[in-house]
Amino acid sequence: MNISGKFITFEGGEGSGKSTQVLQLARWLEEQEIEVVTTREPGGAPSAEIVRSLLVEGAVDRWQPISEILLHNAARAEHIAHTVAPAIAEGKWVISDRYADSTMAYQGYAHGFDREIIRRIHEAATGGLMPDLTLILNVSVESGLARAGKRSGDEDRYERMGPEFHERVRAGFLEIARRDPKRCCIIDAEAELETVSRSVIDAASTHLKGALP
Ligand code: TMP
Repeated sequence: MNISGKFITFEGGEGSGKSTQVLQLARWLEEQEIEVVTTREPGGAPSAEIVRSLLVEGAVDRWQPISEILLHNAARAEHIAHTVAPAIAEGKWVISDRYADSTMAYQGYAHGFDREIIRRIHEAATGGLMPDLTLILNVSVESGLARAGKRSGDEDRYERMGPEFHERVRAGFLEIARRDPKRCCIIDAEAELETVSRSVIDAASTHLKGALP
């Protein structure tokens, strides 16, 4: 019997409401008697959280583009090894707030780094692990940055990259979804919280129907 769990990721720009939706989906899956682990990137394991602070704090231009990609992938390799892979092997479902599509959208589409090199680094860092389902929360840059601005402490390095950068991030995520429609589902996250949660649960139950009890 195959008891391996599922890997679900949430993606989207700043202030798209991912962390709330991660918790809502986890609660719904637990009601279906599925064991769930919620996690995030960059971070999600003690060693990866150390790398996180290097990425989300400080001057916008503190890293060379390649260094930034390698740091995200170093954190990701730790996250997969210590948190994601062990949980999936035990049959748990893992929901991560961000994963590899964020590197493609932020460092690839928005920063303009070679996307084929990003793909190869991802392959080396994770063995090419991709989620079973990716929910992309789509909000306008204006409302996303306004929401994000309200909650941030020191972790605002990417928020400070400016609206044009974030327009390219948003367009990047939409392009990622267009290229991989089987895995990715775009959710209108401009709506009320309950409406967004309903869309997320509908998408998860449709895409992962065969795996639900
Ligand atoms: P968040 O935890 O508030 O979503 O912040 C993490 C930030 O890191 C967010 O602005 C997006 C950015 N990021 C990248 O640029 N590349 C990546 O690969 C990941 C995982 C996050």
